[in-house]
Amino acid sequence: MKFFVDTADVEAIAELNDLGMVDGVTTNPSLILKSGRDIIEVTKEICSIVSGPVSAEVVALKAEDMIAEGRKLAEIAPNIAVKVPLTWDGLKTCKVLSGEGKMVNVTLCFSANQALLAAKAGATFISPFIGRLDDINLDGLELISDIREIYDNYGFETQILAASIRTANHVTQCALIGADVMTAPPAVIKAMASHVLTDKGLDQFMKDWAKTGQKII
Ligand code: G3P
Repeated sequence: MKFFVDTADVEAIAELNDLGMVDGVTTNPSLILKSGRDIIEVTKEICSIVSGPVSAEVVALKAEDMIAEGRKLAEIAPNIAVKVPLTWDGLKTCKVLSGEGKMVNVTLCFSANQALLAAKAGATFISPFIGRLDDINLDGLELISDIREIYDNYGFETQILAASIRTANHVTQCALIGADVMTAPPAVIKAMASHVLTDKGLDQFMKDWAKTGQKII
């Protein structure tokens, strides 16, 4: 499973990248706002750190304008994946930009039918939002499972990029289902390292070690 980090925080990306935890990055307009930085500048800096796909999202709503924005974003670096919303205009944009050989991430996917359309339009990645479905009492993980089955039934090559991941358990479940990629905030990736029995075990080892009176160095 590939790990993308869902942030435009350059320091957080660099820290995880040094540990080999970053196969790519996803951003969106809300994350750019949170970073407080210019989209072109911050995306360029992220691309200088990470060699895998870096998603940068268009903000126009009409296909013609989305295509122009997508081309501009793709000029930032060769590893840009242009992110477009799952609207009819977004699908048109996906078809054009993927036809030009650009990576396209189709985002804001909330149904299996939307994922099917994105694959038909040549998307490199489809981003189903798990947490936001859970928020309205639907089952985000069931959507990942449905898309996996549909894509496998027909051999679609579009990669399932599980997004809106809120918990470490979301990551486990996505890995079990067979999502190709997951994108999560740095805090969720770090939370994956935590276990109460690890903390308890370490605490006991430290207490016992202190009683030995020994030192390693
Ligand atoms: O990758 C999409 C992600 O940024 C949305 O996450 O938690 O705002 O639903 P969230």
